[in-house]
Amino acid sequence: MSYFDEVSEAAHFVRAKLGSLKPRLGIVLGSGLGAAADAVHDRVIVPYDDIPHFPKSTVEGHSGLLVAGTLGGTPVLVMQGRVHFYEGYSLKEVTFPMRVMGALGVRAVILTNAAGGIIDGYKIGQLVLIADHINMMGWNPLVGPNDPRFAFGRPNSGLRFFDMSEAYSKRLRQVATQAAELEGQTLEEGVYLAVSGPSFETPAEIRAFRTMGATLVGMSTVPETIVARHMGIEVLGLSCVTNLASGLSATPLNHSEVFEAGKLVERKLAELLERIAMWIAALVEAEA
Ligand code: HPA
Repeated sequence: MSYFDEVSEAAHFVRAKLGSLKPRLGIVLGSGLGAAADAVHDRVIVPYDDIPHFPKSTVEGHSGLLVAGTLGGTPVLVMQGRVHFYEGYSLKEVTFPMRVMGALGVRAVILTNAAGGIIDGYKIGQLVLIADHINMMGWNPLVGPNDPRFAFGRPNSGLRFFDMSEAYSKRLRQVATQAAELEGQTLEEGVYLAVSGPSFETPAEIRAFRTMGATLVGMSTVPETIVARHMGIEVLGLSCVTNLASGLSATPLNHSEVFEAGKLVERKLAELLERIAMWIAALVEAEA
């Protein structure tokens, strides 16, 4: 069975569970950031374990549930937890759920993650809007034959080579900034650099990444963004600064610190996502 057929089979399975709901927005909730799924109305919950060909998360704090319903009135498909390259999955497997979202007709995705802060001035628990990324994972999810069927009929999509000059949608960033302002928050923009992990970085690596222009470092999101753009899906990226990157803090890094910091902003993130979802609906529906 081809990869495309596996995606189609998974999408068919999920679609059958959704009834008349047609999700237009996909949301991926990262480490410790799962609470936003609780704000979804008329929830239909599908465990990843039930979905054919879907990868299963092995990391603590990633629950592995697909939650469909409405958020801020917008039909959404929320992934509570994702799988990572460092778990041993290929980037094809890591981005499989994103492909399923594409097959289900999602037009925009919000990708959230926990990240280390590389520049001075970030506070633990701060949300940062991703303006651009640097891929230092050493791989790209699109390596291999190109399958143009992943365009799903969208113009300028499913191409072998494609533009990444606005990987993170400018208009969605404006929406997010305005939504945050209404919540009394200011959203700074940053550059997210992805590493494979699972080891955290060395101080020398962080100094190098800072010189390269990165302000955030993490182990996810970039493969999903690349695959979403391949399908012509708009991307909004939000990082939660869970720790200061290696060498910038007096204490060694650990995963529970990352997880706990995520827990601190879960609520704030959930409120922000609800407002963004409400506004994104107006944008994408206007084009449908
Ligand atoms: N480095 C890499 N990934 C991360 C970090 C970090 O400091 N914090 C959260 N995810």
